[in-house]
Amino acid sequence: MRLGILRRGDDLKPPAARGERNTREARGVGGRKVTIVGPGRLGQALGRLLAQAGVPIDLVVARRISRARQAVRFIGAGTATALDDPRLSSADVILMTTTDAAIEPVGRVLAARGADWRGKVVLHTCGSLPSSVLRPLARRGAAIGSIHPFQTIPNPATGVRNLAGCYWAIEGDTRARAVGTRIVRQLGGNPFPIRPERKVLYHASAFLVCPTLLVLFDQSERLLKLAGVPSRVARPLLAGFVRETVGNFAKLGARRSLTGPAVRGDWPTIENHLRELRRHAPEALPVYHELLRAIVRLAGRKLPRHLEMSR
Ligand SMILES: NC(=O)c1ccc[n+]([C@@H]2O[C@H](COP(=O)([O-])OP(=O)(O)OC[C@H]3O[C@@H](n4cnc5c(N)ncnc54)[C@H](OP(=O)(O)O)[C@@H]3O)[C@@H](O)[C@H]2O)c1
Repeated sequence: MRLGILRRGDDLKPPAARGERNTREARGVGGRKVTIVGPGRLGQALGRLLAQAGVPIDLVVARRISRARQAVRFIGAGTATALDDPRLSSADVILMTTTDAAIEPVGRVLAARGADWRGKVVLHTCGSLPSSVLRPLARRGAAIGSIHPFQTIPNPATGVRNLAGCYWAIEGDTRARAVGTRIVRQLGGNPFPIRPERKVLYHASAFLVCPTLLVLFDQSERLLKLAGVPSRVARPLLAGFVRETVGNFAKLGARRSLTGPAVRGDWPTIENHLRELRRHAPEALPVYHELLRAIVRLAGRKLPRHLEMSR
C-alpha cells in the first residue's frame, strides 16, 4: 500500500485491524527517504527507530556538522550535513525535530531558497505549535503537518526504548497526515487526531502529569528522608506506589482510584499533615494545599471552612 492512496478511515485503525502485510513495502514510508533536521533527543531516537524499521534515512541536518556526524553515528544511517546544504530542498520527507522556537525560522529559511517543494512533505514534532507555522513551505507546494509523541525523552537512548508503542497526535493537511500516520505505525505507535488550534491545551495536559509528577516525587522523597526512611528504600518505595496508582487510573479512571484521608473526610489527619508540614517542610505547603482542594473537588466533597483558610 503506497502513501496517498490510503482508504478512508484506514489511517486511524491499528495495523492488525487493517490486515497490513509484513513486507518491506508495507513497512516503508511509501519508498520515500526521510531527512531529519535538528537531530537532538527526539530526532536521533526517531532516526534510529525508522532506520531499524527499514525506512531509508537520507540527510541528517544540524547547525554544526560535528553534531550531524554524531547523530548519524547514533542513528546508524544517513548522510551528515549542515543546514545550508542545497540537497535539503530535494528531500522527500523532512522530519523537523528542532527546538520549538527554531521550527518557524528554519522553515522560512528553507522556503526562501526558492525551490519547488511540490510532492514533498514536512512534519514537525512539537506538541504546542500547529503545523501552520510551516506555511512558507506550504506556499511553495509542500504538504505540512506535525506528529507529536505523548512521551518523555530525556535522552536519545531512552527514546529508542519508549517511543515504540506510544501515542502520537497528528494534524496537518491530508497528505502530511497520511505520511505522518505511516511513520507512526512504522514505529508501532498509536496515531490520533488533534485540533491544531487547541494544541497548547493538549501540551499543557502533558505538563500537568509529567514534570509536575517529578516535582511531587522530589518533595515526597524529602519528607520520607525527614521521617528517617533510608534513601535506598525511598525511591523504589515511591516508584512502586505510584506505579500502582497509575495502574488503577488506567483501569478505573481518576475518581474511582482516589484513596486517602481527604477522600474519607478524615479532617483530623489532614490537620496533622498541615501542622507537621508547617513545622518541618513549609515549602511543601502551597502545593499540598492546592492539591488538597483539587482532591476534595474530584471526590465530590467539601473542604471544611477552617481547612480552606489554614495555610
Ligand atoms: N524530548 C522530549 O521529551 C520531547 C517529547 C515530545 C516532543 N518533543 C519535541 O521534539 C522537538 C525536539 O525536542 P528535543 O527534546 O529533541 O530537543 P533537543 O534535544 O534540544 O534537540 C533540538 C535540536 O534542534 C536543534 N536546533 C536548535 N535551534 C536550532 C536552529 N535555530 N536551527 C537548527 N537547528 C536548531 C539543536 O541543534 P544544536 O545541537 O545545534 O543546538 C538540536 O539538534 C521539540 O519540538 C519538542 O517539543 C520533545
